[in-house]
Order: sequence, then C-alpha cells, then structure tokens
Amino acid sequence: MLITGFRMKRLGQNVIRRALAVLAASMLAVPSLALAGDFTQPIKFSHVTHAGKNEVPCEFCHIYARRSITSGIPPVRTCFGCHQVVSGTTDEQKTEIKKVLEYWERQEPIPWKKVHDVPDFVYFSHKRHIQIGFDCTQCHGDVTKVEEWNFDTMKQQLSMGWCVKCHITQHPTANGKIAGPARKTRGAAVISGAAKVQPDGHISGSKDCFICHK
Ligand code: HEC
Ligand code: HEC
Ligand code: HEC
Ligand code: HEC
Ligand code: HEC
Repeated sequence: MLITGFRMKRLGQNVIRRALAVLAASMLAVPSLALAGDFTQPIKFSHVTHAGKNEVPCEFCHIYARRSITSGIPPVRTCFGCHQVVSGTTDEQKTEIKKVLEYWERQEPIPWKKVHDVPDFVYFSHKRHIQIGFDCTQCHGDVTKVEEWNFDTMKQQLSMGWCVKCHITQHPTANGKIAGPARKTRGAAVISGAAKVQPDGHISGSKDCFICHK
C-alpha cells in the first residue's frame, strides 16, 4: 500500500474506505489455506528429533528470527554440518537423511513448503517481537513436540483477531523486555531465573491499521 500512516491520518475516512476496498480486492488473489490441499514436505524432518531429543536451539537453524522480517529456513549447508557424520539409526531415518545428502551433492536447495504464511497485504516482522522478549512458544507453541508441520499442527491460524488481541494486551515488562511466563523459555528450553524477575512496567502493540497494513 502506497499510502503512509501520516497521509492517512490527514486524508481520513474516505481514504480508509478506499484502502479497505483495495485490501478486499487483494484478498481475492490470495489462495486460502484450505485450498492448499494435501501437504507433504520433500523430506520427513522432525522438530521432535532436532529441537526436542537433541536440543538443537531454534536459532541455530532459524538464524534470522532476531535480525529480520523472516525467521528463515536453514540452508542445506546447516544440515550437512551434522549429517555428513550423523546417518541415522532406523531404516526410515537413513532413507530420509540420504535425501538430505543428495540435495547437498547436487547443490540444490531443499524445496520446503511454507506453512505459516500471512497474506502479502499484511506486514509482520519477527525481529521486533523477538527483541522485545517474546519466546517462540508464545506464537508457535511447544515446537519440540511437533513431528511434522502442516495446517493442522500449526498452533495459530494467524488471523487478524489473533494479532490484535495480543496487541491490545498490556504485557508486563522487566528491564524493558517482556517478563514472566513468556520469557521463561527460549524455544521451550527453560531459562533459569527468567521467571523470577519482577515486572516493572507494561508494553502493548498498536491497533493502528497501518502498522500491519502498510
Ligand atoms: C536442525 C534445524 C532446526 C531446528 C533446531 C529448528 N528448526 Fe524449525 N524448521 C527447520 C526446517 C528445515 C523447517 C522446514 C521444514 C518443516 O516445515 O518442518 C522448519 C520449520 C519451522 C516452522 C514452520 C515453518 C513454516 O513453513 O511455516 C516453525 C514455526 C519452526 N520451524 C519453528 C522452530 C522453533 C520454535 C524451533 C525451536 C524450538 C525450531 N524451529 C528448531 C529446521 C529447524
Ligand atoms: C546439530 C546437528 C543436526 C543438524 C544441524 C541437523 N540434524 Fe538432522 N538429525 C540430527 C540427529 C542427531 C538426528 C537423529 C539421528 C539418530 O537418531 O540416529 C537427526 C535426524 C534427522 C532425520 C531423520 C528423521 C528424524 O527427524 O529423526 C532427518 C530427515 C534429518 N535429520 C534431516 C535434517 C535436515 C533437513 C537438516 C537441516 C535443515 C538437519 N537434519 C539438521 C542432527 C542434526
Ligand atoms: C509474535 C508471534 C511470533 C513469535 C514470537 C515467533 N513467530 Fe515465527 N511466525 C509468526 C508469524 C505470524 C509467521 C508467518 C510470517 C509470514 O508469513 O510472513 C511466522 C513464521 C515463522 C517461520 C516460517 C518462515 C518465516 O520466517 O516466515 C519460522 C521458521 C518461524 N516463524 C520460526 C520462529 C522462531 C524460531 C521463533 C522464535 C525465535 C518465532 N518464530 C517466534 C509469528 C511469530
Ligand atoms: C504475543 C503477542 C503478539 C502477537 C501474537 C502479535 N504481536 Fe505484533 N507486537 C506485539 C508487541 C507487544 C509489539 C510492540 C513491540 C515494541 O514496541 O517493541 C508488537 C509490534 C508489532 C509491529 C510493529 C513493530 C514492527 O515490527 O514493525 C507490527 C508491524 C506487528 N507487531 C505486527 C503483528 C502482526 C501482523 C501480527 C499477527 C500476524 C502480530 N503482530 C502478532 C505483540 C504481538
Ligand atoms: C496487529 C496487526 C493488524 C492490525 C493492527 C490490523 N490488521 Fe487487518 N489484518 C491483519 C491480518 C494478519 C490479516 C489477515 C487475516 C487472515 O489471513 O485471515 C488482516 C486482514 C485484514 C483485512 C482482510 C479481510 C479479513 O478480515 O480477513 C482487512 C479488510 C483488514 N485487515 C482491515 C484492517 C483495518 C481497517 C484495521 C484497523 C482498524 C486493521 N486491519 C488492523 C492484521 C492486522
């Protein structure tokens, strides 16, 4: 959307209505999740094995979460770092890990399908949410228990109501960061002491349409 928040405030209601018409029109171009149909990933990758049993930290693989708009899916290089030596125990593991090595040999990226995806007319950035202190579990649940991501295992449907509900909540903060349960974990691993810090203030997000619809 080309209209900036500033101009928007000056131009008022009419423009809001026009902008909403544009939004509604752009909605039509977005295939709904329900239509995306049957879902299989190119490799059977499990967060239970990696983030759970082997306790690999979320941000070891999703390195962009605190720096950028997207968390990012790791490149094959990251996988190869371990799987040049880890070949798996069960037959299924061996077969799936072999596929990883084949992508590496061909120097081809693994064509993962994206599950969590807000429409293009919505602006969402991980960076600010992570830097203010939210844990991955806050929005994605306990990922160490997710065998496979698909539209059923997603914890949140990423609706506007969900975003706004959290934005209007007054979250307790300690030293300028989200305090309490949200900060107790980092990708489901408990941060010792984090929950004991006493809140000293509050923070909430914005309800302004143009924060999320630029
Ligand atoms: C060993 C690397 C690795 C680790 C560690 C890891 N992930 Fe992932 N993650 C991936 C890969 C590869 C995908 C894409 C395949 C898939 O969807 O399972 C993915 C997908 C995801 C997705 C869904 C992406 C989408 O398309 O919507 C989320 C959310 C996610 N990870 C969160 C986490 C969280 C939270 C943690 C820590 C608890 C974590 N991951 C730990 C590699 C990793
Ligand atoms: C920090 C090391 C590490 C990294 C990085 C890593 N893996 Fe693994 N992976 C493991 C271990 C350990 C196992 C379990 C092997 C076993 O139980 O014998 C495993 C198992 C697997 C399996 C077998 C199925 C399962 O989940 O149990 C697949 C497939 C797999 N990894 C794919 C990947 C892909 C794809 C990436 C990159 C996105 C990746 N791994 C990154 C350590 C790693
Ligand atoms: C405030 C809520 C929130 C928090 C906290 C959060 N995420 Fe997300 N995550 C989302 C939303 C919303 C999307 C869909 C974004 C899109 O489509 O652009 C998403 C998408 C993803 C994806 C898919 C690829 C991408 O970047 O779009 C991965 C991977 C992911 N998140 C990992 C993580 C990890 C790891 C953490 C913790 C370091 C985390 N998320 C924390 C809301 C959150
Ligand atoms: C768990 C609570 C929570 C959820 C869920 C959440 N937000 Fe936020 N968001 C916040 C808070 C708190 C801030 C203010 C952070 C600050 O001031 O540093 C914020 C800030 C923002 C900002 C302004 C900062 C920036 O990154 O430019 C945008 C845009 C935003 N959120 C979009 C979204 C969207 C879109 C969704 C849903 C897809 C969403 N948020 C879901 C809590 C949340
Ligand atoms: C905190 C982020 C956030 C704010 C603030 C926000 N929206 Fe949204 N909006 C979203 C998300 C996310 C979607 C996509 C929902 C989906 O895909 O189901 C959306 C979708 C929409 C749609 C498409 C129709 C629909 O309901 O799915 C319209 C129209 C819309 N928003 C208008 C507004 C207006 C007007 C405001 C201000 C009063 C506003 N939004 C404020 C996040 C936000």
